[in-house]
Amino acid sequence: MVKFIKTKNYDDMSRKTANLISAQIISKPDCVLGLATGSSPIGAYKVLVERYEQGDLDFSKVVTVNLDEYKGLPRTNDQSYYYFMNDNLFGKVNIKAENTHIPDGMEPDSDKACADYNAILRSVGGVDLQLLGIGHNGHIGFNEPCDEFEKDTHCVELAESTIQANARFFASMADVPTKAYTMGIRNIMEAKKIVMVISGAGKAEIVEKAFFGPITPAVPASVLQLHPDVTVVADEAALARVLDRI
Ligand code: GLP
Repeated sequence: MVKFIKTKNYDDMSRKTANLISAQIISKPDCVLGLATGSSPIGAYKVLVERYEQGDLDFSKVVTVNLDEYKGLPRTNDQSYYYFMNDNLFGKVNIKAENTHIPDGMEPDSDKACADYNAILRSVGGVDLQLLGIGHNGHIGFNEPCDEFEKDTHCVELAESTIQANARFFASMADVPTKAYTMGIRNIMEAKKIVMVISGAGKAEIVEKAFFGPITPAVPASVLQLHPDVTVVADEAALARVLDRI
């Protein structure tokens, strides 16, 4: 079941997303959080850091698994998701480094990188709350539109539109990674709760397709319609095409 929380703007969306994550941490201090990157969740991470600084949140027992990582980008590269997570959250709260997990982008052997990450996902014993963003083409994590849903962690060739969308973060096109390791659709769907953050008019069309269109691997996020507990926290601009249906 998909529930929508309509928010006024990005800041409102971020606060309400942080509320859901805070509630999870407070009700189960040793919870497993599935985390996402991209511009959409940055505001929520900022609010979580503020709440930690105010003494309202404790990350000491929290375990995290991230959705994805670029293949071939070292952790020191400021565009790697490892760097992003440390910069936006891990480096600013009392989470233990050994409790945070991200696919190893520097493992050149894709089979090994994916098998290792699947083993980690099994070892943490299930995700309590999975945070997601959505790509303009409906990708979740880096599960790009394709012919069938990929179940477990796998190596993907990024879609041309994703490479283009990411180009703004890199000095030149040649620097933009073309491959990534990502959790698969089953890994994501196994989370007990899913919270998706969506912001801006640019996402309005994909919101309609993903949640009110057919369930198809051509729109990977559409599979979320089958999950029992999904909360979409989105601003009015992103919900513009579905306001009469939520
Ligand atoms: C990347 C990430 C996704 C994210 C997407 C959307 O592709 N792998 O997890 O949801 O970007 O990013 P943004 O939130 O910046 O629109």
